[in-house]
Amino acid sequence: MNFDLTQEQQQIQKLARTFAENELAPGVLERDANSEFPMEAFKKFGGMGMYGIPYPKAFGGQGGSYLSYILGVEEVSKIDGAFGISFSVNTSLYGGSVMYSSATDEQKKRFLAPIASGAAVGSFGLTEHTAGSDAAGQQTVATPDGDGYVLNGTKIFNTNGPFADYTVVYCLMDPSIGTKSMAAFVLEKGMPGFTVGRLEDKMGIRSAQVSEMHLDNVRVSADRMIAKPGEGFKLAMKVLDGGRIGVAAQGLGIAKGAFEIARKYLMEREQFGKPLCKQQYLAFKMAELQTEIEKAELLLYKAAICKEEGKPHSVPAAMAKMTCTDTAMRVTTECVQMLGGNGYMKGYHVERMMRDAKITQIYEGTNEIQRLVISGQLFR
Ligand code: CAA
Repeated sequence: MNFDLTQEQQQIQKLARTFAENELAPGVLERDANSEFPMEAFKKFGGMGMYGIPYPKAFGGQGGSYLSYILGVEEVSKIDGAFGISFSVNTSLYGGSVMYSSATDEQKKRFLAPIASGAAVGSFGLTEHTAGSDAAGQQTVATPDGDGYVLNGTKIFNTNGPFADYTVVYCLMDPSIGTKSMAAFVLEKGMPGFTVGRLEDKMGIRSAQVSEMHLDNVRVSADRMIAKPGEGFKLAMKVLDGGRIGVAAQGLGIAKGAFEIARKYLMEREQFGKPLCKQQYLAFKMAELQTEIEKAELLLYKAAICKEEGKPHSVPAAMAKMTCTDTAMRVTTECVQMLGGNGYMKGYHVERMMRDAKITQIYEGTNEIQRLVISGQLFR
């Protein structure tokens, strides 16, 4: 067993770190306060090839490892967790839906290359009012119409939804047989009947943009179908296995970002005539948090490696997602506490990180759903 990162992985980690420090740190508080998405920075990061890291060069990707991509998500999330999820949804959920579907190579190139190069942004339409944890509860329907299909329904909680150029929409062809008829299509911004609905006002990840998407008699040509009827549900589940590793990386990044702020603070801030880090209670607390972070990191990197090596990774992904995101919540909450009154104030960042951490325990399958996935494999 080798715990060293490859040269490629170290390079990506460094690139993402430098980008986050130079492009994301300035203005991160203002973007959080005003719910503003850093589109220019998002496009710039895409131009560096980051969104296509794990996909083949033939489809516009970089042909890199899944762990390299995960390290990228982790690095940017240390500074801006909202950017981390926009990146992860773009690559894992949109990109994964196209890549792991039964689409032809031509379709894959057509729908993946613009995202991989950063020229366009992708989004993932699975969740509905009736289909949250129960992803099978879909009501969006595609009806055959001539040589194409007509789609009707409403998707909710679409990250990147408001500005996405491409959205993968999962839907039923025959509601009477449910997911056995689930298919998936790639829709594009501006298609008649495909509109952005309510923009969500959120507790955290405030600069990420999340909205409803309405489909009102959207006419879609057959060459936009990437998962045939019956393939859609399994595709969504497979894609979420990869997405959960991305959310785990986001959570771990948030945890590490808050930890580092607290570490520096405890060395600088003096009370009772000495730096806070000389208070054994706080030093021990940091020792515990660092151990939690390293445990989570091991699970995350293991899950990423399982995925890139083509091994079963539903359970490793669920374990990593649950552990990294619970770690993010615990570490950020403890960091706010250790920074005292300052921790509660915006300028020290940890309160934002605590708010950002909360959603990581919820989306791409709540941590209760991760327990369902793990226990489901235990008793088969
Ligand atoms: N890979 C491939 N196939 C899978 C699979 C996987 N990981 N998991 C299940 N399947 C297959 C099963 O083998 C089964 O196939 P058969 O019918 O041939 O036997 C089929 O799918 C149905 O499986 P289940 O009976 O286990 O499905 P279920 O209806 O009980 O649901 C669930 C299982 C795990 C609870 C699932 O509904 C789930 O993951 N729920 C959470 C949904 C979720 O994560 N939503 C996130 C939305 S995206 C998001 O958050 C957006 C964002 O912007 C960040």
